[in-house]
Amino acid sequence: DGDVYKYYADGEWKKSSSGKSVAIINPTTRKTQYKVQACTQEEVNKVMESEKTAQKSWAKTPLWKRAELLHKAAAILKEHKAPIAECLVKEIAKPAKDAITEVVRSGDLVSYTAEEGVRILGEGKFLVSDSFPGNERTKYCLTSKVPLGVILAIPPFNYPVNLAVSKIGPALIAGNSLVLKPPTQGAVSALHMVHCFHLAGFPKGLISCVTGKGSEIGDFLTMHPGVNCISFTGGDTGIAISKKAGMIPLQMELGGKDACIVLEDADLDLVAANIIKGGFSYSGQRCTAVKVVLVMESVADALVKKVKEKVAKLTVGAPEDDCDITPVVSESSANFIEGLVKDAKEKGATFCQEYKRDGNLIWPLLLDNVRPDMRIAWEEPFGPVLPVIRINSVEEGIHHCNASNFGLQGCVFTKDVNKAMLISDAMETGTVQINSAPARGPDHFPFQGLKDSGIGSQGVTNSINMMTKIKSTVINLP
Ligand code: G3P
Repeated sequence: DGDVYKYYADGEWKKSSSGKSVAIINPTTRKTQYKVQACTQEEVNKVMESEKTAQKSWAKTPLWKRAELLHKAAAILKEHKAPIAECLVKEIAKPAKDAITEVVRSGDLVSYTAEEGVRILGEGKFLVSDSFPGNERTKYCLTSKVPLGVILAIPPFNYPVNLAVSKIGPALIAGNSLVLKPPTQGAVSALHMVHCFHLAGFPKGLISCVTGKGSEIGDFLTMHPGVNCISFTGGDTGIAISKKAGMIPLQMELGGKDACIVLEDADLDLVAANIIKGGFSYSGQRCTAVKVVLVMESVADALVKKVKEKVAKLTVGAPEDDCDITPVVSESSANFIEGLVKDAKEKGATFCQEYKRDGNLIWPLLLDNVRPDMRIAWEEPFGPVLPVIRINSVEEGIHHCNASNFGLQGCVFTKDVNKAMLISDAMETGTVQINSAPARGPDHFPFQGLKDSGIGSQGVTNSINMMTKIKSTVINLP
């Protein structure tokens, strides 16, 4: 069946023996856009075997050669930005320009990872024993960073390319092999991206990409004894994975309810611009999107007016036309968002625009006077709907932020840097942005969430360190 995309294993493109496929629905047309193989558990077992073998010799490949291949893959990825971006537009309705940016950013990320890897993996430590009480200088300890083995990478639909390479790059430079399980929406973009690594000439079996139904291979992959580390970005399935996974390192980023705290002295034009960018880019389908605005009552009217004016200017429509607001990823996602909107309506939120939906397309919506008894005050819509909660003190804002079960990022707007620092210290989130919207990038910055937002820390350096283990050799002198 020629129109089903093949999966990638052993350096080859393969059809699954299941004879079954998984359909990828274009969020805009709501029709099947692509089909991918529904891989079987037996195929996953085979992949794990070849990954294990490939990793052994890859770990012995000189570090500079591993870096060279990654640089090559990065260049090929950038050369293929147009066809990959086209898939992103069709599979996940990412606006055309943002889709190109995602691929270019990914190429840069892979190159940066190669450079960072040769530096941090190229050095180890040398310790002597006589610094610890009771010891003579008779032991020399040499440490280096060794790979973990087979890394399982599970990226989410919103960055199927960028959040895949942010796992692939660190895994490979450190001498690991890698199995990629792409999200269904985004699987074809991921397969194209993997093809760039194929063209770069990585050894057979070192990278695999298995597609299929979560119900068939999801748990099977995450609980597979051949997996030595899981790097997952996505929703609360991550919590379930963490409970089932074995004694292996986990790196997870599971969403957020990023608060934007606005003080009385804030530059309201700057705040409004950042609320638009932070709350509505890619229609709010970012873990780091601004998901609740906590604004001091005295400046709330003025801020809401400014944001409203900017919302009116957002273009709404097809990703091909590079509209700001495009259809959300699936019908169930649109239904979920609608549920939050209805709940807010029933409980008396002020609608700054009329609620409008056509299929998966939801018009941008700002909800003012949201109260803590509304679901939207706590849940992440992952859509273009943004609640505003009016606060009477900074403490009230910090309290709301910290009462969330999430703790990814947050931001604070004020001209008083001393206040900003104190608020940053008080916010229980992995990152606080002062005078700008939350964002993961630049991609080498540390990226981490507290509480239900995740385990471990990402960013190029942190990911390389996380995907390695310290190995010591002690020389005992007579
Ligand atoms: O939603 C995934 C998260 O990593 C967001 O990344 O670059 O949009 O801040 P970014």
